[in-house]
Amino acid sequence: MLEHLNVVRHPLVQHKLTIMRDKTTSTNTFRRLLREISQLLAYEITREMEMTTRTIETPLCPMEAPMLAGKKPALISILRAGNGLLDGVLELMPAARVGFVGLYRDEKTLEPVQYYYKVPSEMEERLVITLDPMLATGNSSVAAIDLLKKSGARNIRFMCLLAAPEGIARMQAAHPDVPIVTAAVDERLNEHGYIVPGLGDAGDRMFGTK
Ligand code: URA
Repeated sequence: MLEHLNVVRHPLVQHKLTIMRDKTTSTNTFRRLLREISQLLAYEITREMEMTTRTIETPLCPMEAPMLAGKKPALISILRAGNGLLDGVLELMPAARVGFVGLYRDEKTLEPVQYYYKVPSEMEERLVITLDPMLATGNSSVAAIDLLKKSGARNIRFMCLLAAPEGIARMQAAHPDVPIVTAAVDERLNEHGYIVPGLGDAGDRMFGTK
């Protein structure tokens, strides 16, 4: 079983994350590193996927060989920053289905407001991997997972790059059945809901916006 909270302390992940945190890192490099880390996190989050076997013939002999079983997983990007994780994970799992949840954070209340929602069919039968680089207050992540559960999702995992203790606590309270995989747990949130020390606004840094 995946733990409720999985911090991937692999040296490659930590090295790449440090470069991403550095404010002098370019948009181009930030985006590339996010894609690379997403694949290392995906390696962890897809442990324990359902398996079956298939009879094949190698050049030497027949064998019962392991294969993924069941419905294709669903990758759910929480817009817009989730797209930075999506590209890399899709490279590893090109047959996955993809959904999008559009939530923006009201700057005053920090509460999520929904503006888009489209997910694959038969969510109840799929491994659902929710993607959002920053687990900050946890408000939008909890709201997104509420929506996914309403669509039938039962086997949900959450991938982020950085998590604040506040966001983890909020997720654990609302969705204790959803394991979180992250590259780091930072100190705290500041008064604007940003993760400290963090890396700033992940969407702005990956898309070069302000
Ligand atoms: N979203 C971000 O992009 N960065 C934070 O620090 C918190 C939320």
